[in-house]
Amino acid sequence: MITPASSFQPLIPVIAIDGPSASGKGTVAQRVAEALGFHYLDSGALYRVVAFATYQRNIDWHDANAVAECAKILQINFKNERVLLNGSDISNEIRSEAMGKGASQVAVHAPLRAALVALQHRFRQPPGLLADGRDMGTVIFPDAMLKVFLTASTEVRAQRRYQQLLGKNESASYENILADLQERDARDKGRSSAPLVMADDAILLETDNLSISDAVNVVLTHFQHKINNKSHK
Ligand code: DC
Repeated sequence: MITPASSFQPLIPVIAIDGPSASGKGTVAQRVAEALGFHYLDSGALYRVVAFATYQRNIDWHDANAVAECAKILQINFKNERVLLNGSDISNEIRSEAMGKGASQVAVHAPLRAALVALQHRFRQPPGLLADGRDMGTVIFPDAMLKVFLTASTEVRAQRRYQQLLGKNESASYENILADLQERDARDKGRSSAPLVMADDAILLETDNLSISDAVNVVLTHFQHKINNKSHK
């Protein structure tokens, strides 16, 4: 009998970093992945691609089945930090505020979430995976070696997003950004399918007063402890 590759996957370590929008987790996650030479899964990008593709095809973001069916036929690839949809680079398009909002809207649908599970599991490759999202530690990789819930106050997150947009010369209003973040938080936390929630066995990392490099070091230190504890067993 041929043993499916997936049966070896639990041996491959996963670090799951979950948290709300604009918490800085993407940057922290990427740097931790780089430091360890791990693969990186930006699961939010998958939901953003689905929002973009359904928008292009005039599919209603409220139509759970149509959104999921559309997602099943998409060819999504990550190449050198770029996101490709059916071969076209759509990295810039999916980073817009509108697609962030759309991603949060399509992500409430259980059939879509189910359609994206296998794709996310395929990122678990040697020597390890850093998975970034909302349900990495709770649903997609519940056996992750280390789970981190990275967050910051809504005001600090809105301020960071505001500065980011100004840095890109995009017009922005702090009040609108704050309201959008509150709306997205409420939707991501309130949905019935895989809501944003801290896993029972996750480490809470509050970044209001923590720099990116400090946050990276905290995650790396926790991971090192996990490795040491495992090798002493
Ligand atoms: O991390 P991000 O801002 O790119 O995510 C965009 C939206 O996608 C987020 O508001 C909710 C959804 N999402 C999700 O439901 N589950 C994930 N694992 C990642 C993102």
